[in-house]
Amino acid sequence: MADDSVFEVEPLRATFGAVVRGRRLATLDQVEFAALYDLWLEHALLVFPDQHLSNDEQVAFARRFGELEFELAPISNVRKDGSVRVEDDGDDVIKILKGNMGWHSDSTYMPVQAKGAVFTAHVVPAKGGETGWADMRAAYDALDDEKRAQVSELAAYHSLYYSQSKLGHTPAEGSDYSGYGFHGQEPPLRPLVKVHPETGRPALLIGRHAYGIPGMAPEESERLLQELVDSACQPPRVYHHHWRPGDAVLWDNRCLLHRACPWDMREPRVMYHARIAGDAPTESAVPV
Ligand code: SIN
Repeated sequence: MADDSVFEVEPLRATFGAVVRGRRLATLDQVEFAALYDLWLEHALLVFPDQHLSNDEQVAFARRFGELEFELAPISNVRKDGSVRVEDDGDDVIKILKGNMGWHSDSTYMPVQAKGAVFTAHVVPAKGGETGWADMRAAYDALDDEKRAQVSELAAYHSLYYSQSKLGHTPAEGSDYSGYGFHGQEPPLRPLVKVHPETGRPALLIGRHAYGIPGMAPEESERLLQELVDSACQPPRVYHHHWRPGDAVLWDNRCLLHRACPWDMREPRVMYHARIAGDAPTESAVPV
């Protein structure tokens, strides 16, 4: 059990997650940070209302968890010139935002998957645009013995080409989207059960980037992976956060799935994502 005395910690009504108050993330000393790190491992998702982190503070806070995969990506439907990208105009950024609405974990399509993320809300729509997380440790625990034995033997490939192509998105040359994740390497193969490197807890590693379980016909693999996501992402294993500007969230990408919820894209939504890099010895793909 983590030492909660430094912070006010209110567990969510779910198998995971807590709202944490009482300290500014930008000015934590080492003892406070160590306590927070333990809380993160225990709860997997920490929600910090009213932090109003600047971009630099967000990056500096994320860096305390390790190297960054990237510093700060705007997750936003607002262009640099302030105009709003709307749905159905063939915009590649919108296609990526739509892709984020499927349950996933970050960078499983890269050679090393992400460790976690610090995510902040800057402009939020009046309705919708929540972010949801789902606890894959509890989802693994909830499997019956037969299913647990089955998935423990299996692996799946992960690809952003695969997940986006299901939405009709094949990245266009010279688009506004940077193309992060659309690489030319072989797709990584990852076990369906990931043991958390710091807590030792097994968790399902599934989500929209996963496909092509070796030894299974494509349709059979697709059916099993979809069935696992559908049964895993159910209460009490899910939490959806209704954002307010100034909120910050920290999640553990080694045991949670997440997704964005739809909103009326005529309304601006501006979020910033700092991605904490996975550790190569534990977050690398398995050799094919
Ligand atoms: C993401 O999938 O990383 C972004 C989620 C969101 O926009 O709420």
